[in-house]
Formats: sequence, structure tokens, C-alpha cells
Amino acid sequence: MISLKHVSKWYDRFQVLSDCTTEVKKGEVVVVCGPSGSGKSTLIKAVNGLEPIQEGTILVDGIAVNDPKTNLAQLRARVGMVFQHFELFPHLSIIENLTLAQVKVLNRSKSEAEKKGLALLDRVGLSSHAHKFPSQLSGGQQQRVAIARALCMDPIAMLFDEPTSALDPEMINEVLDVMVELAYEGMTMMVVTHEMGFAKKVAHRILFMDEGRIVEDTNKDDFFNNPQSERAKDFLAKILH
Ligand SMILES: Nc1ncnc2c1ncn2[C@@H]1O[C@H](COP(=O)(O)OP(=O)(O)OP(=O)(O)O)[C@@H](O)[C@H]1O
Ligand SMILES: [Mg+2]
Repeated sequence: MISLKHVSKWYDRFQVLSDCTTEVKKGEVVVVCGPSGSGKSTLIKAVNGLEPIQEGTILVDGIAVNDPKTNLAQLRARVGMVFQHFELFPHLSIIENLTLAQVKVLNRSKSEAEKKGLALLDRVGLSSHAHKFPSQLSGGQQQRVAIARALCMDPIAMLFDEPTSALDPEMINEVLDVMVELAYEGMTMMVVTHEMGFAKKVAHRILFMDEGRIVEDTNKDDFFNNPQSERAKDFLAKILH
């Protein structure tokens, strides 16, 4: 579903991604972790073309993301992305947030879009909040709306960049629960997170990044029980204590 081959990227002379090669198969959940500044956000943003790359190729469902002929707006409509900050439109109600792109990008009728929006709002446990505004919801609730909004577009894959790291601790689980459910339903997911409990529960593979490189790309059990690199060992020792 997602394939990266020899991807490199520079900011001026600073190399932020170095020769990154990996793939995410349909239905696979891949967790990306690593120290701050290692390039995790840059890698995941490159997957839906939010960050251009200078070398290598990225294919999403066979579409070359870094081909100038590719319609990135169309690609992004099919790949859901959820960031650390919820980025809902503050001046639109929750249901309007959920329907806007469905109508504008997918040309759905307003009533069809609302039906879908309400169904997904129900799925994240927020159906009674449809007519509120984002500022009237908690951070965890807003993040669940952001996930529902992405799902309204019938994405072929979902990308998450630290979706729980800006949340108060008591709200983290309500968001992770939604993500766990998605994973169990077979959604293809690439998730940057330091929530190792989530990784242990649903990840098929772990990518560990350091200084712009994918240092480990292994199945979950090998990563947790038998990390190969010193850097991953250090990282795990810090994060698990
Ligand atoms: N627009 C930019 N211009 C220059 N350098 C940048 C830019 N964005 C990111 N960087 C640098 O690229 C490196 C990787 O950044 P990135 O945000 O991908 O790291 P990360 O692994 O997501 O870190 P964190 O865990 O803190 O979110 C960092 O050294 C960062 O300072
Ligand atoms: Mg980041």
C-alpha cells in the first residue's frame, strides 16, 4: 500500500532523511518511533506529499507521490492524516467539520455527507456533540473528531503523527482506543507514537529512526525483546522506564 525506496531529503545542507526504504502492506500497522529530531514527522509527511523529497520514490497504492504529474490533492483525499494538534476548523460546528471535505472534494451531497459524518461521530462515541464547536470539546474529544473526519473520506490508509502527545494523560486512552479499534478492523496505518503500549498491542512492525535513518525495521516482538542497535536499546531503556 505504501512503499518508500531510497528516500532522502535535505533542508539546505542538513540531511533530514537518509536512504529510507520500507513498505507498509494493506492492513498492516507500522509504528514509527525514535528520538526527537530523528525525522519521524518528516518521513510521515513525505508519504502524502506534505514534504517534498529530493531522492528516491514513494508510492501510495501505486501512485508516485513525488511525481510532479501526480494530483496531490486527490492523493491526500484518500490518505487520512491526523496530527498532534487537532486542526479542526474553529468557526465550523463538529458536523460541518466532518462534511466540508466530503462535499468539496468527494462531491457528496450535503445529506449524504451528514449521514456519513454522524455515523463516524457515533463510532468515536461523540454523536451527541454534532452541533457543538471545537472549542466546546476537550482535547481528547477533538482528536477523536479529527479521526472521524479523516475516516469520512474512506481513506485507503491512515497516517498519525503523535496524535496523543498534546493531550492530558487521562484523555490519551480514549484516543488510543479508537485507534486500536481501527487497527483491529484492518486499516492500513502508519503511526508515529511513543505509546509503546499501543505498539505492543496492535503494531505488526516497528520502524526505529535515528538521525534520518531507519535503523530498525522489524516485527514488534523482535523489536521489544531483542533490539539490534545500541541506539534502539538506549531508546527502549529510556522510554520503558
Ligand atoms: N522546515 C525545516 N527546516 C529546517 N530543518 C527542519 C525543518 N523541519 C524539521 N527540520 C529538522 O529536521 C529534523 C527532523 O525533524 P522531524 O520533525 O522530522 O523530527 P521528529 O523525529 O518528528 O522529532 P519529534 O519527535 O521532536 O517530533 C530535525 O533536526 C529538525 O530540526
Ligand atoms: Mg515529530
